[in-house]
Amino acid sequence: MSLITLGIESSCDETGIALYHSERGLLAHALHSQIAMHNEYGGVVPELASRDHVKHVVPLVRQVLQEANLTRHDIDAIAYTQGPGLGGALLVGASVANALAYALDIPTIGIHHLEGHLLSPLLSDPAPNFPFVALLISGGHTQLMRVDGVGLYTLLGETLDDAAGEAFDKSAKLLGLGYPGGAALAQLASTGRAGQYKLPRPMLHSGDLDFSFSGLKTAVLTLTKQSDREPQTLADIAYAVQEAIIDVLAHKSRAALAQTGLSQLVIAGGVGANQALRERLRSDIEKRGGKVFYPDLQFCTDNGAMIAFAGALRLAQQQGEKDYRFNVKPRWNLTEIVTA
Ligand code: KG4
Ligand code: ZN
Repeated sequence: MSLITLGIESSCDETGIALYHSERGLLAHALHSQIAMHNEYGGVVPELASRDHVKHVVPLVRQVLQEANLTRHDIDAIAYTQGPGLGGALLVGASVANALAYALDIPTIGIHHLEGHLLSPLLSDPAPNFPFVALLISGGHTQLMRVDGVGLYTLLGETLDDAAGEAFDKSAKLLGLGYPGGAALAQLASTGRAGQYKLPRPMLHSGDLDFSFSGLKTAVLTLTKQSDREPQTLADIAYAVQEAIIDVLAHKSRAALAQTGLSQLVIAGGVGANQALRERLRSDIEKRGGKVFYPDLQFCTDNGAMIAFAGALRLAQQQGEKDYRFNVKPRWNLTEIVTA
C-alpha cells in the first residue's frame, strides 16, 4: 500500500515542508529561510524564529499540496521535527502537525532532526546502501556515525566543543562576514591563496574519531587582530580556515572507514554544502577505493524533504501513532532513538 507523508521541519531558522510518496518518491517540497531576518542580529533570535514559522507553515503546506496536485485529504501521515532545536520553533511544527493530523484522523510521527540529515543522501541517485559511515556536519553537530539501517546508529566520534559549522560561522564573524557565515566564508576562501597562514588542526592525531574546533576559533581571533584586514589578507585567512576544517574532517572520515572496514561515506548536514570539502573528500576516499555520497545541495541544509522521508521510513516500520498529545525535545541525543 502506498503512503503519502507530509513532512514539517521547523527546528531552527528555516520552515521546510514536503510531501513524500512511498513509491513515487518526493512529490513536492518548499522552504522559507529566515536567514535574512536573523542576519541583522548576527545570529538566530529564537522568539522571532517561532513567530516566523507560525506565519509560514500553513501557507507552505498549501503550496506543496497544490504543486503535487493533491488535497489535504490525500495525506496519509504527518512527520514533524520533534527535536533537537529551538523549543518555540519546534512547538510550531509539532502543534500544526498534530492539529492537522487530528482533523484528518491520520497518524503523526516525531522525527529526530539529525536522523533526517543522516538519511537525506538516500533521497539522491545513486543512493548508498546500508551499512555506511555518516559524517554529520551541521551548525550544531559534528559526528561520525555507523549506520546499519533505519534506527540502527552507532556513534563513532563527535566534537568535544564547537561543531564544524560553528567553526565556519564564528570564523566568518571574525572576518566580518554575516550570519550564518559558512557559505560566505567559502566564497571568500575561493579568492584566497594557499600557504599564507598556518592554522592548528586540533586532535588530528588524537588516535580516536573525536573532534575539537574551539582552538581554531581562538587562532583565527589572534590572526585577524594582528592582520591589516586588507581584502586579500582576509581571503587568505578564510582559505586557511577552510583548509584546516576540511583537513580534520577528511582525516577523521578516512579513519572511520578504516576502523569500521566500510567503504561508503555519507556526508550530511549544512557544512556538506561546502564545495571544497566535497572535492577533497571525494578524491581522498575514492583514491582508497571508497565511495562518497552527498545529498543534493538543496537537501544539505535544513529542509522538509528529509523529515518527510525519515518519517516515511519510520512509518513503514509501523511507528506512527494516532495520539495527538505531543512534546518537543530541544535537547535530544541521536543515540536515544536507536531501535536495536
Ligand atoms: O544543517 P544545517 O542547515 O543546520 C543545522 O541543523 O545546524 O547547517 C547549517 C550550517 C551553518 O553553520 C552554515 O554556516 C553551514 O552549515 N554551511 C556551510 C556552507 N553552507 C552552509 N559551511 C561551509 N560551507 C558552506 N558552503
Ligand atoms: Zn540541520
